[in-house]
Amino acid sequence: MTVLITNIGELTTNVRSADGDPTGTLHDAAVLIDDGRIVWVGAAADAPQADETDDAGGAAVIPGFVDSHSHLVFGGDRAVEFEARMAGQKYAAGGIRSTVAATRAATDDELRARLRGFIEELRAQGTTTVEIKSGYGLSVVDEERLVRLAAEVTPEVTFLGAHVVPAEYADRGDEYVDLVTGPMLDACAPHAKWIDVFCETGAFSVEQSRRVLEAGIARGLAPRVHASQLGPGDGVRLAVELGAASIDHGTYLTDADVEALAGSDTVLTLLPGVEFSTRQPYPDARRLIDAGVTVALACDTNPGSSFTSSMPFCIAVAVRDMGMTPAEAVWAATAGGAAALRRDDVGVIAPGYRADLVLLKAPTRIHLAYRPGVPLVDQVWKDGVVVA
Ligand code: NIG
Ligand code: FE
Repeated sequence: MTVLITNIGELTTNVRSADGDPTGTLHDAAVLIDDGRIVWVGAAADAPQADETDDAGGAAVIPGFVDSHSHLVFGGDRAVEFEARMAGQKYAAGGIRSTVAATRAATDDELRARLRGFIEELRAQGTTTVEIKSGYGLSVVDEERLVRLAAEVTPEVTFLGAHVVPAEYADRGDEYVDLVTGPMLDACAPHAKWIDVFCETGAFSVEQSRRVLEAGIARGLAPRVHASQLGPGDGVRLAVELGAASIDHGTYLTDADVEALAGSDTVLTLLPGVEFSTRQPYPDARRLIDAGVTVALACDTNPGSSFTSSMPFCIAVAVRDMGMTPAEAVWAATAGGAAALRRDDVGVIAPGYRADLVLLKAPTRIHLAYRPGVPLVDQVWKDGVVVA
């Protein structure tokens, strides 16, 4: 059955136009969907006949958000830690261990129910593709549970056994890396597509990170890296050297990091929710984009450093505080996220792509930043079906 979405006031296609505009914006446009895929895009006046028509009423339509970084399988929360931070306490990676205890104590059904609730929550805010990491289990049994549960709701599953060294391995980081690269990887690889590591002082050294990533690559997982979140380090260099799809955070980047990223296929995924809720300085997206780095935006939904699941919120912060234009921020939250996941079927509104779209209660995408905190997502289509 074909469905035509017509009377679209502003359509962000992300198909680079002849004048070099990466957003490929059309006005008074229409999109034809057949069997979950986009089959035609063009001027509403030229639209083909369809079995059904949906009138967008002149509103703006954008691709569904591609949130390429989240940690959605966990127990408990850390509201008290957030409150203390807002009163001046510094964010430290060690807080992860308290979520590990709560996650280990939760049953599969409890984790699954919560995860499904988050999926509904982010769909209602326009996210149609989401990557989910493990990393709050940190034992063979618990990491296997987390990747297995994540795989029930998304194909974009990341094994992050090397999130921090768990308490029972304190001062035995190398032994913990043996566990991660041995039995834990054996148990988790069948459920995962990606391997990730937190390459940071207080988590894993660059040598340990290399061991983790190379072991994952040898098992057919593709690398992505958490790095330069709490201070500058060698994580970006390692990520680029290993051909990682993305380095995430990048709050503290050196000029050499920026240069290495600009000459690579590695996307830099910025996570504005983290700086917002840790009171760290916002990274300068302008510097990165101007240097030629491909930038994605993601929520990093997790109970410690960023408990938002709202891509519109991240767009608003990126525009307000990171030097991105609204057009760049929307691109980064859609096509940028797809690039960070090496996906060529989402993030773009063009024939052949999945029919994942968001109809906004607004005439332009600018409103996503201009009206922060306002629920502007009107209708969400995933694979040609209205899901929110
Ligand atoms: O992406 N950087 C490491 N991991 C998470 C934080 C996790 C936590 O504090 O629980 C992040 O920010
Ligand atoms: Fe993260």
